[in-house]
This record gives sequence, C-alpha cells and structure tokens, in this order.
Amino acid sequence: AEAEAQARFDEIIAADSRIEPRDWMPEAYRKTLIRQIAQHAHSEIIGMQPEGNWITRAPSLKRKAILLAKVQDEAGHGLYLYSAAQTLGITREEMTQQLIDGKAKYSSIFNYPTPTWADMGAIGWLVDGAAICNQVPLCRASYGPYGRAMVRICKEESFHQRQGFEILLTLMRGTEAQQRMAQDAVNRWYWPSLMMFGPPDDESPNSARSTAWKIKRFSNDDLRQRFIGMLVPQAEALGVTLPDPELRWDAENERWHTSEIDWSEFYEVLAGRGPMNAVRLQNRRDAHESGAWVREAAAAYARTQAARSDG
Ligand code: 3HC
Repeated sequence: AEAEAQARFDEIIAADSRIEPRDWMPEAYRKTLIRQIAQHAHSEIIGMQPEGNWITRAPSLKRKAILLAKVQDEAGHGLYLYSAAQTLGITREEMTQQLIDGKAKYSSIFNYPTPTWADMGAIGWLVDGAAICNQVPLCRASYGPYGRAMVRICKEESFHQRQGFEILLTLMRGTEAQQRMAQDAVNRWYWPSLMMFGPPDDESPNSARSTAWKIKRFSNDDLRQRFIGMLVPQAEALGVTLPDPELRWDAENERWHTSEIDWSEFYEVLAGRGPMNAVRLQNRRDAHESGAWVREAAAAYARTQAARSDG
C-alpha cells in the first residue's frame, strides 16, 4: 500500500500538480515543508521589528501610515504561513515555543539594525525586492497551502518594494545629507540582502530534495543572480551605487560577476551572533509574555461559548 501511495505521490509531483493536506506524503517531504514554512513564518513576524522601530518616528503622516500598513501586512503573512504549516501537523504553540527558545531559524536579514529613516527605504527596496524574487516561484510550490499562501503574499510584497524604492528616490532627490543617508543604508543592506537567498548551491544541503519535490523551483544562486539583475537598472534610476566594485556583467558566462560574499558573516548570524539576534528574540519573548492574558481570555471565552451551545 505504501508503494502505491509513493507512486501516487510521485505521479502528482511529476505532473506538476498539488499535494494537499489529506494526501499521503513521504515523512521527509512533510518535515522539510514544516521546516521551511515555519521559518518563513518566523521571518515575517521577526521582520516586523526593524520597521516597527520607525513607526513612531516616520517623517510624515503619509510615511507613518504606509509603514504601519506594511508592518501589519507582515504580521498577516506570518499568520498565513503558520496556518499553512499547521496543516502539516505542527501546532502554533510548538512553533512559537521553538522561536522563543531560540531553537528556530528565521531570515538572517532581520538581525541587522535600522539606525536611520533611509533604512526603511533600503529594506523595502532590497529586502522586499529579494523576498519577491524568492517568493514568486514559491507560488508554484508543490504543496497546495504553501503555494496558495504565496499568491496573496506576493501581491502585498510588490507594494512593500515600491514604497521602499520611492523613499530612496525622495531622499536621493533631497539634500546632500539625505543622499548620503540613502547611500549609507544601501551600503549596509546590499550584502545581507544577497545572503537572504541562502548559501551557494554547492553548500545547500536542502536544495537537491526541495528541487526534486518541486518546492524549490530555482537554485539559491540563480535567484541571487536574478535579483542582482533586477537591482542594477533600479540603482541607476535611483542614483545610488551598489557597494561592490567588482560588480559587472560577464557576457562570456552570461552572469553577474560579483566580489566574494562573506559567508562567515552569514553563518555567524545563523548561529545567533548577528548584531541584533538577541534583541529580536527578547522582544519576541516579551510580546509573547505580555500577550498571554489575551490568549487566556480568548480561550476562556471560547469555553463559555462552547458550553452555552452544548447547553
Ligand atoms: N536566513 C536564515 N537561515 C537560512 C538562510 C537565511 N537567509 N538561508 C538559508 N538558511 C538556512 C536554511 O534554513 C538551512 O537550514 P535548515 O536546514 O536548518 O533549515 C541552511 O541555511 C542551508 O540552506 P539551504 O539552501 O539548504 O536551505 P533551503 O533549501 O531551505 O533554502 C531558503 C533556503 C532559500 C531561504 C528557503 O528556505 C526558502 O525559500 N524559504 C522561504 C522563503 C523565506 O523564508 N524567505 C525569507 C525572506 S524574509 C520574508 O519573507 C519577509 C518579507 O516580507 C521581507
């Protein structure tokens, strides 16, 4: 029976169809999806902090309203993705506890500080730009709930990217000081945004299986290249310089030649030793503890409602 189930699963994957929660799936497929979707959800929730830092200090009511909407979107993306992960048999509490205990990964990019307003532009342009490159192919992930969640998330992400570009454009059309602030933010966010796509393909333990299972549609390096190709003309339009003196189009090999990426920094951040890892986790713990009374009240209310309808 298992052999038939495996054959059925392989057929669905080969036909580029969707695996749904009630379908049989190899345990390793389930495990890698829980791993990736939970980390993706954690990334969205932790990702609210760097930007939340500027909501009370936005330079205008318009900027404040846009930033508020963006941070609320990230919260929604996180809840969407936690729900998708729950269809695979892990509970919200387990995932939250793993994050709070520092046992769960989330995107390295959110462990960097946001010292100036221009960081809000650089995050929108670079971080959400990278997220779009990474998330559009995930709309076609073989696991139904994940792919469908991505469709909605990608629509909102494009607004995030555009508002970031517009913040930088405004600054680059401003005073010398504003231009320096924008360039400084691009200098600090460029390399970490390239690391968002994951390690080089030959150091990526999950890629082979995720690709065979049509979860991953393009390799880490392919998407990194696609992202750089997107950035070059936009950087020119902005008048900012991408902080890589070696960056040029290598026509012979049809790829962007870049300086070496500092993977030791990447692995340091993954090990929890990035500039802001401890702060991000402490804030998440504090939010969880100070929100406990809401969860208890909601659960108590649900019990009385259930009792009333039984009664
Ligand atoms: N940050 C943290 N961990 C990372 C990472 C990063 N930028 N890149 C890779 N890793 C981890 C992987 O999780 C894996 O560790 P694990 O086996 O313990 O999970 C290890 O490094 C090796 O990487 P692999 O390439 O083998 O792992 P994957 O095949 O999972 O590829 C990935 C990594 C491309 C990030 C893939 O997991 C993915 O596409 N995830 C979904 C997208 C996602 O999480 N994006 C985060 C962007 S931030 C965001 O979405 C918020 C937006 O609103 C800005």
